[in-house]
Amino acid sequence: MTDTATTTEQDRVLIFDTTLRDGEQSPGATMTHEEKLEIAELLDEMGVDIIEAGFPIASEGDFLAVSEIAKRTKNAVVCGLARANFKDIDRCWEAVRHARQPRIHTFIGTSPQHRAIPNLTKEEMIERIHDTVTHARNLCDNVQWSPMDATRTEWDYLKRVVEVAIKAGATTINIPDTVGYTVPFESARLIRRLIEEVPGADEVIFSTHCHNDLGMATANALAAVEGGARQIECTINGLGERAGNTALEEVVMAMRVRNDILPYRTRIDTTKIMNISRRVSAVSGFPVQYNKAIVGKNAFAHESGIHQDGMLKSADTFEIMRPEDVGLKSTSLVMGKHSGRAALRAKLKELGFEVADNQLNDIFVRFKALADRKKEVFDDDLIALVQDQAADH
Ligand code: KIV
Ligand code: ZN
Repeated sequence: MTDTATTTEQDRVLIFDTTLRDGEQSPGATMTHEEKLEIAELLDEMGVDIIEAGFPIASEGDFLAVSEIAKRTKNAVVCGLARANFKDIDRCWEAVRHARQPRIHTFIGTSPQHRAIPNLTKEEMIERIHDTVTHARNLCDNVQWSPMDATRTEWDYLKRVVEVAIKAGATTINIPDTVGYTVPFESARLIRRLIEEVPGADEVIFSTHCHNDLGMATANALAAVEGGARQIECTINGLGERAGNTALEEVVMAMRVRNDILPYRTRIDTTKIMNISRRVSAVSGFPVQYNKAIVGKNAFAHESGIHQDGMLKSADTFEIMRPEDVGLKSTSLVMGKHSGRAALRAKLKELGFEVADNQLNDIFVRFKALADRKKEVFDDDLIALVQDQAADH
């Protein structure tokens, strides 16, 4: 069983995955019922602490998916999203109540830009927060509350709304950077000041939820942890609205690889990362960019002669993590015009050809000529080169 609302271990960071909610909100990323069940099962197996399974009031399909995930999930807390009204919260509870560990996540936009939408005064909004969090807490022991667009909310007002939510019974306070506006230094300071200055802050878990509009979602999430947050909200492959959310694989591997400077622990089995990344890409229809950190096709691939030579001598010359740690079999040496003799010899050996030095020289000349014409030289091309070279002698 995983932690629910609280953790007393200071170095433990809870991983809250929202691929099935915020990730699915990406235009065009809609998943079928069966696909959602599959992804939820993979998330549970990899050790995610909380799965945000959907937005139950949004559609009948979302409601059914959240209910089914709640019934099937073995370890993780299952959470549903609800706006700040009783109807949303009741519907959310109806779906998540089947879970071994249910959570209701309710939110309202608190920045000047977002307050204008429900047309509430600041005081009316405070009353709404108090009433809706109290209502959610009467249904469920585990309640998360988010002031949407927190990073553009006036500091004094943010402090007040967070205090109201805690007093009304919220067990997790999530601080969203809804429009990807903050920067790492500010992200750390915001969480630190909330923990220091809001009465009751030490009774709850603070969480960070970052968007990637300025390309800083991972850095901002890790900075928030430095500031005292102990839950990171993230998605597989960074899927999410606009430029996406914090990528799960990035924050988890950063805390693992740089544990010297980021001394935190998660429960994630990192060897399951590649598989779930590929499945999320397949079911959402969102390809993973080649140079994406951790899960991109090129993240563990080397083409240039200097890099390949270094890698053949010792893997840590150009890799800071082992491919096996994220579920890949091995590093790949991509054969192209930048590749050198040592990589060619190693590749040929892998294909079953032990070649003498003079033979290698000849094949190398042919290989370079071919590589100038093709972007990548594949195994079949190399086999043909060896056969042609042998036939010519
Ligand atoms: O980005 C955001 O503010 C959200 C909230 C619903 C938490 O996704
Ligand atoms: Zn979001």
